[in-house]
Amino acid sequence: MCGIVGYVGAKSAVDVLIGGLKRLEYRGYDSSGLVVAADKALHFVKDTGKVRQLETRVHAAWPQAFRQRVGMGIAHTRWATHGAPTRENAHPHSDQTGRLALVHNGIIENYAALRQQLAAKGHTFVSQTDSEVLIHLIGELYKGNLFEAVCAALKHVEGTYGIAAVSVDHPDQIVAARKGSPLVIGMGENETIIASDVSALISHTRQVIYLDDDDVALLTPAGADIRNIHNVPVSREVAQVDWDVGVAEKGGFEHFMLKEIFEQPDALSNTLRGRLDEQMGTAMLAGLALSPRELAAIRRVVIVACGTSLHAGMVGKYYFEELADLPTEVEQAAEYRYRNPIIHPTDMVVAISQSGETADTLAAIREAKQKGALVVGICNVVGSTIARETGRGVYLHAGPEIGVASTKAFTCQLAVLLMMALKVGRARRLSRQDGLEICAQIKRIPDLVKAVLDRNAAIIKVAERYATAKDFFYIGRGCMYPVALEGALKLKEISYIHAEGYHAAELKHGPIALLDEHAPVMALLNNIAGKEKMISNVQECRARQAPVIGVLSEGDRDTATHVNDALHVPLAPHLSAPIPTAVALQLFAYHVARLRDCPVDQPRNLAKSVTVE
Ligand code: F6R
Repeated sequence: MCGIVGYVGAKSAVDVLIGGLKRLEYRGYDSSGLVVAADKALHFVKDTGKVRQLETRVHAAWPQAFRQRVGMGIAHTRWATHGAPTRENAHPHSDQTGRLALVHNGIIENYAALRQQLAAKGHTFVSQTDSEVLIHLIGELYKGNLFEAVCAALKHVEGTYGIAAVSVDHPDQIVAARKGSPLVIGMGENETIIASDVSALISHTRQVIYLDDDDVALLTPAGADIRNIHNVPVSREVAQVDWDVGVAEKGGFEHFMLKEIFEQPDALSNTLRGRLDEQMGTAMLAGLALSPRELAAIRRVVIVACGTSLHAGMVGKYYFEELADLPTEVEQAAEYRYRNPIIHPTDMVVAISQSGETADTLAAIREAKQKGALVVGICNVVGSTIARETGRGVYLHAGPEIGVASTKAFTCQLAVLLMMALKVGRARRLSRQDGLEICAQIKRIPDLVKAVLDRNAAIIKVAERYATAKDFFYIGRGCMYPVALEGALKLKEISYIHAEGYHAAELKHGPIALLDEHAPVMALLNNIAGKEKMISNVQECRARQAPVIGVLSEGDRDTATHVNDALHVPLAPHLSAPIPTAVALQLFAYHVARLRDCPVDQPRNLAKSVTVE
């Protein structure tokens, strides 16, 4: 997820673009850039880091008189997906002539093939991005009409995009197009603005047009001419925005956390995109960069992580043991780094970190590398320290996570772990048939999550009944045990309710002493192995008057008779069931915290990235 803004009109394009980028920074913030058209040339400024740095550079590069008279430009704040967050990879990108420029959100899936074809025609590239390939393709097809060249190029593109393109020949035009990556046009007076969301343009106009997939728009100060990719005009309604800026940044959601919970079907689709090989029944994880022979030589998996990422790793243990037949240990990263752990050259050490900057996880991989283990990363932030130091691994592509409580990163980590275990398993003893079955299960994950989100209203009702609790217990078995730990973590960190996660069998070894009518229990009772034993544990809780909320598979009426309240999740195979279950628990925690008026996105004492020990 990145931020796009483009402006054509009577104001200073530079001021509008920088202002818009600042509003969009929550969508991506590892590098940014802008291009303006003036004096028969395109002028670029790009930088790594925050938009503030870009602004300083712009002021140093362009005198005020120049900044004030430029009336057209496009800008971008980036969240790296292809290529590290460097100046070269920052947008806008230009074509081979330097006379066209483009900003792009999304992923061009066939960019490698397109890049090869263009290279054969003499194109040279300065970045590792898929976006640069797209503007080169537009340049290759450009015969003086930018709109036509964009349409022609998009016919060759597979993947998703929201783009804005400009040409030095038309300093009063921007061409924008959308497929799968949102774009909205602001219709001002003698000015037109394009942005990836309304927050970037709301201070200029409240009259907007939301582009649909396959729309291509020609923007001039007079307005927008919207057509489809085959140059046929389409009609789109002008809407009136009545949100304030804060709400707009959150896409209409009250908090980033809620927005990120609801983004999960898309985030998971991005994580899975292009990674399942449905011929061979395996996963294609280019970043892993290990041959089947190297994968077959692994003797043990050791997962190191902290917090929510650690819980993802604990679910991953089930995946690696079941699919790849590999003994798997999961270690709190600080414990691992200080324990002088036994590490073999045949170990694969997997570091999981959303931020890629967690100090203990970083130190753990340094220790593992020092002792000769194969080290692999699972990170969300492209180019983060852990991603760079592991050198190989799999990115989540979940988009930036702003809410301090990790949500979409967790479910995307599970999806990556499942694909990783599938890939390693197929290099060992998993059959093609079994691999195909797992692929089919993985493909369904975004829909499973959607089905949980559709039950938000029912989850709110349950949250209302428990929002005043002082203590909470979460219990689960098997791969639902780590999900119970994660559910309890979500609740405690944002609602400040004391919540503990336990293996259900562990209750009677001590914690059951705390149960009474004031201590509700969240029991993960999905229809998977161990459910009967879970029901016995639930009965033990209810015998102590503890109210029980069951997470139940849709339609499981029998189990419903054992609990006081229920959160329903779709029936799912045991390997994918942790994902929809986690989403139900995220929603429950969110609503409880909201009902208690807690600052959901910035819980007390917590930081998004823990870069100290
Ligand atoms: C909880 C949460 C933290 C992080 C932990 C590790 O919601 O977000 O527990 O999971 O600080 O962070 P990363 O994944 O960035 O290494």
